[in-house]
Amino acid sequence: MDNDQLPTANEPAKAPAPPPLTAQRLQELQQQWLKEIAEALSLDEVAKLRVRLLGRSGALRDISAAVGRADPVERRELGRAFNETRNSLESALSAREAALAAAPAAAGKPAGFDFSLPGRQARRGRLHPLTQTVEAIKDILIRLGFEVAFGPEVERDYYNFEALNIPKDHPARDALDTFFLHDDVLLRSQTSTVQIRVMEKRRPPIRIIAPGRVYRPDTVDATHGYLFHQIEGLAVDESVTMADLKYVLHEFARGLYGPEVRTRFRPHFFPFTEPSVEMDVSCFACGGQGCPICKRGGWIEILGAGMVDPNVFQCVGYDSERYTGFAFGMGVERIAMLKYGIDDMRLFLENDLRFLRQF
Ligand code: DAH
Repeated sequence: MDNDQLPTANEPAKAPAPPPLTAQRLQELQQQWLKEIAEALSLDEVAKLRVRLLGRSGALRDISAAVGRADPVERRELGRAFNETRNSLESALSAREAALAAAPAAAGKPAGFDFSLPGRQARRGRLHPLTQTVEAIKDILIRLGFEVAFGPEVERDYYNFEALNIPKDHPARDALDTFFLHDDVLLRSQTSTVQIRVMEKRRPPIRIIAPGRVYRPDTVDATHGYLFHQIEGLAVDESVTMADLKYVLHEFARGLYGPEVRTRFRPHFFPFTEPSVEMDVSCFACGGQGCPICKRGGWIEILGAGMVDPNVFQCVGYDSERYTGFAFGMGVERIAMLKYGIDDMRLFLENDLRFLRQF
């Protein structure tokens, strides 16, 4: 603000007239100047500001003149405000000077930037550990030639049981305790349902995997829930043999646990496969020596599998003289718990960030 822009009694200002000086206007100017001081990025800038504000023909000179011209009633108050402004500008300039001189790193940074504070960390989102596990399993099996298929979670008895060679009153239904919605409609208790749905729609060769949720009315504890995840696999073609099953599942285990892992197949029973097996992998924690994770046995069971039962082929109209196939199924929670050392599967569904952030 220049001297000659301030209105005086005998020499009216050229247009536009600046607003008359009031305590409030002075307050506004002070705020603006303090901000400029705080934002000064070098000692040089501070020095220039000092001249512009407090110098012999600086802004405060003009203000002081305007105070002198104010009417006597207001002059007292304005005078007090003026002194306050000058003092606060002086101490702000000195403080900014001292800060820039003491800490060269503050140069180039506005005041209020505390360069000694650690950087602010951006929190990145991540995939749920179960999703990560499903993705890892899918990646391996897709490389082995499988494609992903899906089926409904609300199912008919036919797909969950009947077509999988589990007739009504068959004892195998007990192991697959199921939520019935009404009559023959239920929440699927296994992803094996997708085998039937895919085979109904397509002809061999078939190589699919089906990840998804399954439901069972279990009493919830560390290793049981009423909702969990499975991944099903199915391969059907002419002359598929047990050797193919062993090859694919061994390669799968190597993909999941590394090239050193050993596998073994134990006879088992599933209604929809004949013969049926369970596959164990050598314990990835101790390499098979025996440790708490493998319960000292050196082996860990990770999936069920077998050659597709001819009765299943019959249900979908495949000629079991011409086609053979193998199927397998695994629990995602179990594999994730083993992989990450999680001892309670309820953690997967609680959405506690302290848990989720660890993956
Ligand atoms: N559906 C079985 C279960 O829920 C898992 C399973 C076992 C699936 C063997 C298969 C298989 O396809 O061949 O316990």
